[in-house]
Amino acid sequence: MCGIVGYTGPRRAAPVLVEGLKRLEYRGYDSAGIAVQSGSDLKVIKTVGKIARLKAIVPADLPGTCGIGHTRWATHGGVTDANAHPHRDPTGKIVLVHNGIVENYKGIKEKLQAKGAVFLSETDTEVIAHLIARYYEGDLEKAVKAAVQRLEGTYGIAVMHADEPGRIVGARKGSPLVVGVGEGEMLLASDVTAMVAHTKRVVYMNDGEVADIRPDGFTITDLDDRPVDKRIDSVDWDLGEIEKEGFSCYMEKEIFEQPESIGRALSGRLDAEFATGKLGGLNLTPQQLHSMQRIKIIAAGTSWHAGLVGAYLLESVARIPAAAELASEIRYRNPVVEPNTLFLAVSQSGETADTLYAMREVRRKGGTVLGICNVVGSTIARESDGGVYVHSGPEIAVASTKAFTSQLAAFYTLTLLLARMHDMSPTEGRRFMEALRSVPDKVARTLTLRDQIQAIAKKYAKARDFLFLGRNLMYPLALEGALKLKEISYIHAEGYGAGEIKHGPIALVSPETPSVFLVPDDFLREKTLSNMKEIKARGGPVIAFGVEGDEDVRELADDFIGVPKIDERFYPFLMSAPLQLFAYFCALELNRDVDQPRNLAKSVTVE
Ligand code: G6P
Repeated sequence: MCGIVGYTGPRRAAPVLVEGLKRLEYRGYDSAGIAVQSGSDLKVIKTVGKIARLKAIVPADLPGTCGIGHTRWATHGGVTDANAHPHRDPTGKIVLVHNGIVENYKGIKEKLQAKGAVFLSETDTEVIAHLIARYYEGDLEKAVKAAVQRLEGTYGIAVMHADEPGRIVGARKGSPLVVGVGEGEMLLASDVTAMVAHTKRVVYMNDGEVADIRPDGFTITDLDDRPVDKRIDSVDWDLGEIEKEGFSCYMEKEIFEQPESIGRALSGRLDAEFATGKLGGLNLTPQQLHSMQRIKIIAAGTSWHAGLVGAYLLESVARIPAAAELASEIRYRNPVVEPNTLFLAVSQSGETADTLYAMREVRRKGGTVLGICNVVGSTIARESDGGVYVHSGPEIAVASTKAFTSQLAAFYTLTLLLARMHDMSPTEGRRFMEALRSVPDKVARTLTLRDQIQAIAKKYAKARDFLFLGRNLMYPLALEGALKLKEISYIHAEGYGAGEIKHGPIALVSPETPSVFLVPDDFLREKTLSNMKEIKARGGPVIAFGVEGDEDVRELADDFIGVPKIDERFYPFLMSAPLQLFAYFCALELNRDVDQPRNLAKSVTVE
């Protein structure tokens, strides 16, 4: 969490930094600040609140062509101006922004205090500035290298020194950092969205690397001063993709993009000749893939829900035992890593600390991990043994929508590929493939339900609690529907397997607690209908997301949304957008900040 940005070049730095921070706001948004150098003067401006507030207090004519900025998601110390970044060293000559957590900051701080150091904030970050100052002997890069070697935990930092105008030093361990290579100017940021308006040429840094950037060039070295040979990559998307394009917020835009984003995730990946999936980046031979006897999926949040769908599919369709695990749990369970088990790390951002560390633990034990990521060049994508990019394009809203359905597309393709290696016949493969091909158009049809969904959301948005219920493939969708509602409307919602309600949650049912049922026309429809009746019998209002023309469901429910008909294995795609829209319209009704819900951040790089 937290976003950092740096700029050095011929232009005024402040507007570049503020605009870059606006793009990084998804990473945290409780306070923000910049430091800009003009001659030997380093001016720091910071405030609690969002970037708009920072922008309002940064003078339009603030001089200085080199600077760093930060948007914060508080970890150590409350949300105050003093705790906002940038932080300074005691001489005031060094300024620094930091993303990550210094785990041993307390010990370092106490030692420095014993020597008389005075700290102005409660952050772990300020100790880094003090340390750099202690090691500084005229060369900022050297001092940064010496200081970070004393740190335990994670950091992505950008540092400047008043006596070295035009120079920014960046270092990373566990928090992302990318160098942007412009014409006569250079940038540094937590991710490329902050710099794509200025350059599409980027260098992804790895842990243990230090970048020294100046307007006319950059070097990347390791902590032992050895130069690291880096490739300059090219960003393959445009600024337009991170604009709202007429939508009221990013989440709405991203929900409506799904027919195209799913199409992109499938594009070039379905092989008509052999009726199978084609995934070029797995880096496994067909023999290696065929020998996998078990699949374990590791992920967090919405990506975990996509993983649950994936596990159901891989097991029921490809007939490979599969399970989805919470990354934050598996990591500390001393997991057994058996041979012939394929691990899949699923992450939109590719930076989630829980998922990244779980993946590293599995790889350390000799396991093979493939990444299913959206952000190209992200840490999980680079550190995995191979993988699949889902190509949903930049996802800006904190609540994940289009990345979820693109992750589903990756799982369906992988399922087809593996199923066709094992038992699935070519005829069945073709049927599966055709259904998959029909998904983008059918998802587009679900988006036409928006007004109906809005009317239902208006009716129920004042409820305090919701239940989301579904069976089989609809169980992970129930979890995801509940999560979406919680995240952006702050209404309490629980997702359950519909068969599980009688084991406890049914006690919550009352006329004040609506239940959202997911009832496709699958082989469990009758059972789900019975569960709906159980709720109705106890006076609970029922909102049913079913299939168009299903009169039984319509009659039983108080409110009904009908999605198009599809092969029963594919309803996760068609239920996604309606559930997302339901959460979205409830949040609108309650006047919530849809794109930036309270307390959350999109890229969670702390444990
Ligand atoms: C955060 C976000 C969620 C997201 C989760 C996993 O908690 O708020 O929307 O699902 O991280 O993120 P990832 O980037 O790994 O998919």
